[in-house]
Amino acid sequence: MTTTNQRTVLVTGATGNVGRHVVAGLLTAGARVRALTRAPTRTDLPAAWHPTPTPTGSPVSVEVLGGDLLDPASIRAAAAGVDAAFLLWPYLTTDGAAAAVRALAEQAPHLVFLSATAVRDDAPPGQGDVYAQVEELIREATAATGGTWTFLRASGFATNTLGWAEQLATTGAVSWVYGKAARSLIHERDIADVAVATLLDDRHAGARHVLTGPESITQLDQVRILGEAAGVPARWEEIPTEAAREQMSAFAPPAFVDDALRYWATLVHEPEPVTDDVERITGHRARTFRTWATDHADAFRRST
Ligand SMILES: NC(=O)c1ccc[n+]([C@@H]2O[C@H](COP(=O)([O-])OP(=O)(O)OC[C@H]3O[C@@H](n4cnc5c(N)ncnc54)[C@H](OP(=O)(O)O)[C@@H]3O)[C@@H](O)[C@H]2O)c1
Repeated sequence: MTTTNQRTVLVTGATGNVGRHVVAGLLTAGARVRALTRAPTRTDLPAAWHPTPTPTGSPVSVEVLGGDLLDPASIRAAAAGVDAAFLLWPYLTTDGAAAAVRALAEQAPHLVFLSATAVRDDAPPGQGDVYAQVEELIREATAATGGTWTFLRASGFATNTLGWAEQLATTGAVSWVYGKAARSLIHERDIADVAVATLLDDRHAGARHVLTGPESITQLDQVRILGEAAGVPARWEEIPTEAAREQMSAFAPPAFVDDALRYWATLVHEPEPVTDDVERITGHRARTFRTWATDHADAFRRST
């Protein structure tokens, strides 16, 4: 049995908001890390991926591997011999997911999947959203291989508000729907902290953790806090639902758009719940949205 700090872990989505912190956290814990990207020769890989001294003094670094979730052979190769893998599914449909999950489960004894709070355990098989369906694929694949899984059901990411950065910087306003919808947005570092813990500790096998920020705050307040943190004017402009539908339809399928709008409408009267899973697992409180806004303030300032 590999002890936790000697584990080799494959991180998919390693260049993303969450994945880059998963890589950094695993390195700090002394694990060996394989970082998957479709563009391994890109030059903007995080500095933390270069050889770093660990607490025990031994040098570790990240092995950057080329691979594509839509190419199962590349996943199989990247995961060969790992102890655990961090998986995200970056698509709005499950096309290609079954093959990717099977390829990963064949190699990695433990899978940690970045899922979403929308998943309902009482939904009939095959009826849930894309996250529910990928969870189902993981349960099936690991049942066949004798592997284990942990699901990290995250609330909306605070990074989603980066989508407002350009309009805030240029107009001083965010034009969107349901300003009074309250969400428990989560800092990507908290998701990563939990991911590292669950990749390195077998006691999380079979757990479905529900990860949220420490408070549920309205979109109106999110915009106010972003403005305060960045020191820029920031006001909310409510737009008609149909205008939002038209904007979203440019990049998302109709069913996704309908579900999202319906969901935001409910949040006006029923704020998203808040859990203490981040604190229970990591030992520290989940970071506030104000902390996130301060960490990312530059993104909301007008470039000069
Ligand atoms: N946003 C939310 O509110 C929310 C809530 C719950 C769950 N999630 C889940 O969280 C995931 C991670 O979010 P994030 O913000 O960290 O992601 P992100 O910053 O958008 O990065 C996406 C990552 O996915 C990788 N990727 C995309 N297509 C790929 C493919 N075909 N094969 C391999 N890698 C691929 C990209 O790597 P390269 O470009 O380097 O290949 C990149 O590292 C999302 O995909 C979603 O499934 C999101």
